Amino acid sequence: MKWRKTIGEFIRNGLRRGSYDPRRNPFLVFGFFWGLPIPIYTLYFGFPLAGLPREAALLPQLFAAQPWQIYFLLHPVLFAGIFGILGVFYVTKEEQVAELLQQMRDKVRELNLANRDLKQLDRMKDEFLSNITHELRTPLVTIQGYSEMLGSGRLGQLTDKQRKALDVMQRNQQRLVAMIEQLLAYGRLEEHGGQVFESAFSVRKLMRHLRQNFLPAMEKKGIRFEVIAPAEDLQVLGQEDLIEQVFVNLLGNARKFTDPGGQVLFYVDKSEYPERVALVVKDNGCGIPEDELPFIFERFRQGDGSISRQHGGAGLGLAIVKRILDAHRAPIKVESRPGEGTRIAVTLPLAAERRAGPRR
Ligand SMILES: Nc1ncnc2c1ncn2[C@@H]1O[C@H](COP(=O)(O)OP(=O)(O)OP(=O)(O)O)[C@@H](O)[C@H]1O
Ligand SMILES: [Mg+2]
Repeated sequence: MKWRKTIGEFIRNGLRRGSYDPRRNPFLVFGFFWGLPIPIYTLYFGFPLAGLPREAALLPQLFAAQPWQIYFLLHPVLFAGIFGILGVFYVTKEEQVAELLQQMRDKVRELNLANRDLKQLDRMKDEFLSNITHELRTPLVTIQGYSEMLGSGRLGQLTDKQRKALDVMQRNQQRLVAMIEQLLAYGRLEEHGGQVFESAFSVRKLMRHLRQNFLPAMEKKGIRFEVIAPAEDLQVLGQEDLIEQVFVNLLGNARKFTDPGGQVLFYVDKSEYPERVALVVKDNGCGIPEDELPFIFERFRQGDGSISRQHGGAGLGLAIVKRILDAHRAPIKVESRPGEGTRIAVTLPLAAERRAGPRR
């Protein structure tokens, strides 16, 4: 196949006029000089072989005695032709490569422009989101105030039906507030460009605090919530309010994606002690499908549509978690099996004084 193609190209180039133009094709000239020694050489030996002295005037006699000399005489022209055709091969290939390179450069330029537009769009979206969330919060605060007044009976006694309706309203208000808070938190993180102020804080205190916050909600859903704080008072490094926000999100997810009767564990994994410890949130809820795992940290990304509809949320929680932990340079590891549950471990460095102190 390759042979046929090469021969085809050879013949095509042979038919091109450009192949024989010495001004445009230096290979032609090279071929000519390459072939030049051949007739000189054969003529030089031809005369004595024919028994003639070496004289130009005797050339017709020599050709009569040795007609093949004419064939050798044509060699410089023959070589010029063949080299010329091969040269055209070379030049065409070079032109093709140059053209491809140019096309590639054009594509790269196009991609760069598209990339810039995308980045700008992304920024615009973030700004829009941040503006709209601020605007959403203001009327919501008013609604909340009035619904609390209604609930407290200051605007008159409510019938049972009205109270039930108010409960539903308030529950949904809370969901709305939580979502808006998430959006605002994300916006704030973007604004700060990932700057954190680290200090040492107590793991036990953090876990106790989170236990108090989550226990009622877990129990209400019928989930066993077990917090196993470390025996000693470990101090880790980080910005405490942000790290707390990480676990609020992780525990919130564990609660959201675990059915009544399930359990959520919150404990410390000390396998990397005394340099680091991992705080682990483990549930036996619905788990995350394997093909979704790589994307759960992306903004607005939620497990399949039916799950997100069933559970609500904006799909921002884990994006915030990831941003906070990236700013801390703290690793997060997710292990999950659909139908069995999820284990998420966040590794934090232990504060220096604690590390230097005696081990227990
Ligand atoms: N513990 C978990 N069990 C099962 N799936 C989970 C768990 N944690 C996260 N996921 C999956 O990862 C997705 C992204 O989580 P993320 O917290 O970012 O969003 P969300 O909880 O749906 O919304 P938001 O946190 O903004 O209210 C979830 O929609 C869910 O599909
Ligand atoms: Mg969440």
